[in-house]
Amino acid sequence: MRMLKRIGAVIGVLLVLGIGILAVMLSHNSPCPAAASPAPGAGTMQAMVRRCYGAADVVHAERLPRPVAGPGQVLVKVQAASVNPLDWHYVHGTPYLMRADAGFGAPEDPQLGTDYAGTVVAVGPGVQRFHPGDEVFGARNGSFAEYVVVREDRTILAKPANVSFAEAAAVPVAALTALQALRDKGQVHPGDKVLINGASGGVGTFAVQLARHLGADVTGVCSGRSAALVAGLGADHVIDYTREDFTRGTQRYDVIFDAVGSHPLLEYRRVLRPHGRVVIVGGPSTGNWLGPLAAPLEAIVISPFLSQKFLPFLAEFNAPDMQYLQALMAQGQLRPVIDRHYGLAQVPEALRYLEQGHAHGKVIIDIPGP
Ligand SMILES: NC(=O)c1ccc[n+]([C@@H]2O[C@H](COP(=O)([O-])OP(=O)(O)OC[C@H]3O[C@@H](n4cnc5c(N)ncnc54)[C@H](OP(=O)(O)O)[C@@H]3O)[C@@H](O)[C@H]2O)c1
Repeated sequence: MRMLKRIGAVIGVLLVLGIGILAVMLSHNSPCPAAASPAPGAGTMQAMVRRCYGAADVVHAERLPRPVAGPGQVLVKVQAASVNPLDWHYVHGTPYLMRADAGFGAPEDPQLGTDYAGTVVAVGPGVQRFHPGDEVFGARNGSFAEYVVVREDRTILAKPANVSFAEAAAVPVAALTALQALRDKGQVHPGDKVLINGASGGVGTFAVQLARHLGADVTGVCSGRSAALVAGLGADHVIDYTREDFTRGTQRYDVIFDAVGSHPLLEYRRVLRPHGRVVIVGGPSTGNWLGPLAAPLEAIVISPFLSQKFLPFLAEFNAPDMQYLQALMAQGQLRPVIDRHYGLAQVPEALRYLEQGHAHGKVIIDIPGP
């Protein structure tokens, strides 16, 4: 018996030590190294990078080798990129858990940005679907740069002619998130009452339009200054969160699409129908350890005990969903809302603006050039 207790104590000590070491590894910030840029030249491009974790000031311009299209790859001159909250999470390296993937101490990949739209300038051997001069959009790590190289079987699609590069660059992450969270996670059906919390943001402006497209009766929650915008996107009802708390209202919803995390999860129960669903898309970023992961973790714990479902959600790129969004844009049924434009060198300002949490629609990085 004493032996067992001793073994238990040793395991306990090792566990605490292991967790402590992991915590130190995850939260450690390596110092920023000096930038080593190749000289400007034909084989280089300008890119916005960060070589350590920190505030937006750690993001700076560097000249990097210009990528080359290999077999099955397409080289795109980026004309516009859009900023997502994910980008500033990658700059800060928070919540710390994400460093297990992004890099301990410092980011493994210095480049930033995901959404892009631009023009194909070269294709590698074997590429069938794209040709130089094609206008395209999609998602690829490192889109805050003059060029990206993309595999033709990954997230690259023809840009509809009726939308600008900036509008196309606004779509991939935000619209895909809205679509999958409503249709797949929320299981929205025609006639459902759907509430979009954060209806004026980058994701919310797409969610309002897509919930209407799925046939729902849509309530958008935003501040008064965006009420006209949200109603114009198709919301049947608009609630100004600065004047009214929707969790105290009399309306009951089938689906709450939560892009803000403005209330404790259990407060949503009051306004959910008995088998209603809350899709947890975004949440407050306070706290370096859990941040926006706190609500999804709570949802996993409480959901099994309730008839109403609290559903963590993470968007995933796939070709059919991107083609669906491409078709909606081409038919004029999905309108990207653009709040502000910044230049490539102004990525730090764009990140700071988005991080304040009051963007109305998407924030665009324009990267003009040949
Ligand atoms: N799960 C996923 O796969 C996934 C994918 C993409 C994004 N996300 C997350 O989704 C969230 C939203 O992203 P986003 O790109 O839409 O962010 P965003 O553009 O920064 O959204 C900000 C919007 O939220 C509104 N807002 C702020 N406080 C509010 C409140 N209490 N009630 C209602 N609206 C409020 C702001 O309106 P006012 O200025 O008028 O206050 C602003 O329009 C983020 O947390 C992001 O990390 C998750």
